[in-house]
Order: sequence, then structure tokens, then C-alpha cells
Amino acid sequence: MTLPAGLVAFKALAPRTRAAMVARVAPWVLALTTLAATPAPAQTLLDFSATERERILSHGPWPTPGVRDAANRVDGQRAAIDFGARLFFDPRLSAGGDVSCASCHQPPLAFQDGRRVAKGRADGIRNTPTLLDVAQQRWFGWDGAHDSLWAASLSPLLQAGEMGQRLETLAATVRREPRLAAGYRTAFGIAPGTDDEQVVVDVAKALAAWQATLVSPRTPFDDFRDALARGDSAAAARYPAAAQRGLRLFVGEARCSVCHAGATFSNGEFADIGVPFFVPGGVDPGRHGGLQKLLASRMNRLGPHDDAGAADARAVATRHVIIEPRHFGEFRVPGLRQLVHTAPYMHDGSLASIEDVVQHYSALNEERLHADGERILRRLDLTLQQAADLAAFLRSLSR
Ligand code: HEC
Ligand code: HEC
Repeated sequence: MTLPAGLVAFKALAPRTRAAMVARVAPWVLALTTLAATPAPAQTLLDFSATERERILSHGPWPTPGVRDAANRVDGQRAAIDFGARLFFDPRLSAGGDVSCASCHQPPLAFQDGRRVAKGRADGIRNTPTLLDVAQQRWFGWDGAHDSLWAASLSPLLQAGEMGQRLETLAATVRREPRLAAGYRTAFGIAPGTDDEQVVVDVAKALAAWQATLVSPRTPFDDFRDALARGDSAAAARYPAAAQRGLRLFVGEARCSVCHAGATFSNGEFADIGVPFFVPGGVDPGRHGGLQKLLASRMNRLGPHDDAGAADARAVATRHVIIEPRHFGEFRVPGLRQLVHTAPYMHDGSLASIEDVVQHYSALNEERLHADGERILRRLDLTLQQAADLAAFLRSLSR
């Protein structure tokens, strides 16, 4: 072995000179050694493949630019948004004068109620969904019984067990109460007229205009996703390693992102994931029943109150839906943003925690699922570590 020239020269020096030199350079040597020994700053960015990166980036950016709903002529208009906000908290719209939209869609609880199923609903079988990001949906309700946000806002006003009001009484209230009448006039440019249905539909459109402004905040996942997009590995590495591993499962092996797709983590479609549809006294038909209601309603996009009329591109979807047996027991794929604040989960509120949901997919009963079509879901049999990682990722979609 040959010693480096510098070291040979050093060894040739007199011992005293050597000691003096060491004393002089020692602090530097020490500093250098310390630097080398310090573990790299939490550099835990997983080595995501090109496909994984592409899938991860498809879940953003957030927030997405809002899209105006052509079916609602006051969507995006300040006066209608203000009127809608007041209506949302106004119990005078209900039959008993004691229930408002905010009774179930409570702002401090991410616009849901934290209950398994909504209180007082006549059917009493469905969990109250959050209204955050609701304008991004294509179909509304767990069963897709509505094809516009305004129609989904009209239904609770009249439905027994929600606000249970009669159409005529509701229209009369809006005409009679000075502040409601004034709000209506500012929002629609005319005083509430004598056509009861028109007045109530407009109330629903103002409610929809306000709800369309409810957008969930950015989350740790969004910061990670954007850091990845601009190639900032240092910033991306700040996203916890467990969440990164959970995300890798989510877009990969576990196939969650097939249905929970895009920036809202929902493809807007319906599926059966094996949540039991038996309810006290019968079954919840899910999408099968929702489609029947949708097609029978004069409040759908093909009806007289769609402000886009024949030009409504989204009416095409309603015109072409066909009710098929497979729709039985299918429910809408929910978005996953702000999940931490919206427990319990599923259309029937049957799963109490994020861990329970992960366990549901891990121990999935494949026999229970529809046999037709390509099977997306399979029993995952996750290890404890994988289950914890997936839960950590799901939590990172909230702030
Ligand atoms: C008694 C509780 C209750 C009240 C009061 C209530 N809701 Fe709901 N809301 C629910 C439940 C439960 C659902 C799910 C319904 C379903 O899928 O069958 C829902 C669904 C919705 C949806 C569809 C959301 C989505 O993601 O598809 C909208 C929009 C909505 N409500 C708006 C309103 C408005 C506006 C009011 C007041 C006019 C209101 N709600 C009053 C419980 C309530
Ligand atoms: C085949 C489409 C599909 C796939 C794949 C899928 N989901 Fe779901 N997910 C749904 C549907 C549909 C629901 C609602 C089911 C119901 O209420 O009956 C749901 C509900 C959820 C909920 C509850 C949300 C809420 O607000 O109630 C979470 C959390 C969730 N899924 C996470 C996941 C994870 C994690 C994976 C991967 C392991 C996954 N999903 C795979 C369709 C899917």
C-alpha cells in the first residue's frame, strides 16, 4: 500500500512540528468529520417511479379552478351567494321552523353532523355528507338522485324528515318575510313572483351558489404533490415517510386511485365496495333507486328549470343514463379531502374511523361484490405496517 504524498511528507517532519500542525488544523478536521458523521437531513423521499409520479401529480393541483354551473344562472354571483348564505342558516324555511340546512351540515364539523345517519330523516338510512368541494360533483347524493347542486338543495327543503316544507308555504314565506323578499330581489333582479315553483327553485339556486364557494383548504399532501411537480426534492422529503409509503400503496398495489381519482379523490362514479345495503325493514337500493328518482324528477337537467336549456352539455349524461341491475347497491365514490373531520364513514355511517375503513378494504369479502365487469377491488390482506401507512396517507389529505 502506498501512502499519499502529503502524508509521507507529514510523517517525515519532526515530532514537535507535527504536533504543532495538528493543533492548528485540528478544529477543521474535527468540523469536517462532524459534518460527515451527521445523518443527512431527513432525506426520506421515496424513489417514486415515473408511473407513480404521474399518478401522484394527477391528484392536484389544489384548489382547482372552479367551473360555473350553466344550469344555475346565478352561480358565481355575489348577491345570490350572500342570499344563499343567509338561507342556509334560516330555520324559517322548515315546516316546524326549527331546522335549517346548517342543523345537519354544520360548518364547524366540515359541513356534516358527525352522526352515523342524519337525525330525523324519514328513511333514516344515510350519513350526512360534507358540503366542502360539493360543486365538483357530477351527481349528487350517495345514490346520485340529482344531477345539479341546485336540485340537490331543493330536495331537503321539501323532503319529510329533513325540512319537510310544502312548496306553497315556502314560496309564501319568501314573499312575506321582508329580508327574504329583499334578498331574493337583489339576487334575481325581480321581486318573488306568484309562481311558487319558480320562487322555490330560485331559493335552491341561491343556496347552490353559496355552497359552490365552499372549498376545502390545502393539505400536507398538496404541498408534497406540488414539490414533486417542481422537482424540489428537499421540500418533498418533508412529507412523512409513512404517508409516502401509504401513497405508493394508494396509487399502486391497492388500486384505490382507480375510483378515488383526480384532485378531489373521486371519479364521480358509483361502485359497490361491499358495504352491506340491508337497512332496518329492507334494503337501500343505492344508485338503482337514485336513477329512478333522477329520471322521474322534473327538477333534472332535462326539465324546465335548467337555465342552460338545450345548450347544457351535462344534460347529455342524464339523457343517456340507463338503469341496470348492477346499479343495485352501488353508492357514489366519495371524495377523500378533509376525511379526518368527516367520520363516521360510508353511505350508512357504519365505519367509525379511518383505521376501520382501511381494515374493510384489507379484509374485503370478495364474494359480496358484483361479479360482472372487471374486478378492481380485491382483498388486500395488508400487513400492520401497510395498514398504518395507508391510514397515515389518508390523514394527510386533511388539514
Ligand atoms: C336532517 C338532516 C339534513 C338537513 C336538514 C339537510 N341535509 Fe343535506 N343531506 C343530508 C343527508 C343525509 C344527505 C345525503 C342524502 C342521500 O344521499 O340520500 C344530504 C345531502 C345533501 C347534498 C348532496 C351532497 C353531495 O355530496 O352529493 C346537498 C347539496 C345538500 N344535502 C344540501 C342541503 C341543503 C342546501 C339543505 C337545506 C336546504 C340541507 N342539505 C338540509 C342531511 C340533511
Ligand atoms: C371500485 C371503486 C373503489 C375503489 C377501488 C376504492 N374505493 Fe373507497 N369508496 C368507494 C365507494 C363507492 C365508497 C362509498 C361506499 C359506500 O358508502 O357504500 C368508498 C368509500 C371510501 C371511504 C369513506 C369515505 C367517506 O367519506 O365515507 C374511504 C376513506 C375510502 N373509500 C378509501 C379507499 C381506499 C384507501 C382504497 C384503496 C384501498 C379505496 N377506497 C378503494 C369506491 C372505491
